[in-house]
Amino acid sequence: MASVLIIGAGGVGRVVAHKCVQNRDTFDKISLASRTLSKCEQIQNEVGKENIDIYQVDADKVDELVKLIEKVKPDVVINVALPYQDLTIMEACLQTGVDYLDTANYEHPDTAKFEYKEQWAYHDKYKEKGIMGLLGSGFDPGVTNVFCAYADQYLFDTIEYIDILDCNAGDHGYPFATNFNPEINLREVSAKGRYWENGKWIETEPMEIKMVWDYPEIGPRDSYLLYHEELESLSKNIKGLKRIRFFMTFSESYLTHMKCLENVGMLRIDEVDFNGCKIVPIQFLKALLPDPASLGPRTKGKTNIGCVIEGVKDGKRKKVYIYNVSDHEKCYQETKAQAVSYTTGVPAVIGAKLMVENIWKKPGVWNMEQFDAKPFMDELNKQGLPWVIKELEV
Ligand SMILES: NC(=O)c1ccc[n+]([C@@H]2O[C@H](COP(=O)([O-])OP(=O)(O)OC[C@H]3O[C@@H](n4cnc5c(N)ncnc54)[C@H](OP(=O)(O)O)[C@@H]3O)[C@@H](O)[C@H]2O)c1
Repeated sequence: MASVLIIGAGGVGRVVAHKCVQNRDTFDKISLASRTLSKCEQIQNEVGKENIDIYQVDADKVDELVKLIEKVKPDVVINVALPYQDLTIMEACLQTGVDYLDTANYEHPDTAKFEYKEQWAYHDKYKEKGIMGLLGSGFDPGVTNVFCAYADQYLFDTIEYIDILDCNAGDHGYPFATNFNPEINLREVSAKGRYWENGKWIETEPMEIKMVWDYPEIGPRDSYLLYHEELESLSKNIKGLKRIRFFMTFSESYLTHMKCLENVGMLRIDEVDFNGCKIVPIQFLKALLPDPASLGPRTKGKTNIGCVIEGVKDGKRKKVYIYNVSDHEKCYQETKAQAVSYTTGVPAVIGAKLMVENIWKKPGVWNMEQFDAKPFMDELNKQGLPWVIKELEV
């Protein structure tokens, strides 16, 4: 039995709280902390006061986090605040000797670029302290890394090509909204594309490479090449790999809105002067757009996220497609959050469960594919994210 501290009471935090409560045989003490206490209260009311304790914390401040961790005494901290808080929360876990898990790569608020360098730099310090950090335990990154690891460990002798394919075919009825934090989402989508081939990174213009992929249970969708954080760790950890790419679906309407917002300067992340006030346009835009948490009750349709993996098994070429399909409405019925939050929150809880049960446990800072994929794959089926493996023609 373990004590878990969840930091961040947004869409993903809500799912993590609901799922931890569903796993009371693993987590006998559940605490939730966030910047705005009223958001924690809302979640507490949903899951029952007797199931969860709530706290206010500014996760940008290491000293506040240390005090909170010393008070709550968790075995593991699940960070589902924003990527900007990764380093402060990792530091607080180091100072207090507590295991750490997150779902998104550290990003500096002033630079729209994410990479693992600063989080990997904690590896030796975590190892010395005897604690573990698990990075990127969401869906992508997260489950996509586990799908690749499972293929590498159980299905192939060598993997040569991986395409990660992320389709959200949900419809929320608004002309324009983002399914998770708008600032993080728009920074990611408006950035240049990048993929890894033969040991080198190849950069593309934003949305330059497009293909149409036929997603099971959804149908054909325009899919655009983006840089995504799991490419950095998988290109290092899957030996023999020749190429890895990431594609995400976007509708014409979404891309036209985004281009227009970008052209008028609304995606800028630097401060501008407005009537004597300093504002950051993308943060102002976030205040105008629907709160992703409010999309839950209105979103219909499905998500399909998976990996197409090609390589060699017993001297023969082989290609498999491993994917999960989630239904927005079903996710909402279960956790009061739509599928994008659900598919992120459930793997975070699975990661934490495997850590506290000592199934995934080694001191240091690790990515998901550095562990045996089998127990995680088994838990996905049990915890609401079942997967399918299809053999494709090579
Ligand atoms: N790997 C994946 O598959 C995947 C997919 C989607 C999202 N994600 C990641 O999941 C995380 C959560 O996403 P989300 O959609 O739940 O975002 P969200 O709805 O914006 O929630 C973030 C929460 O963190 C809180 N927070 C922000 N700054 C804080 C601070 N300094 N101190 C304490 N709390 C703070 C926010 O508080 P306020 O309410 O006060 O603003 C909010 O409640 C993000 O890191 C996102 O990148 C990962």
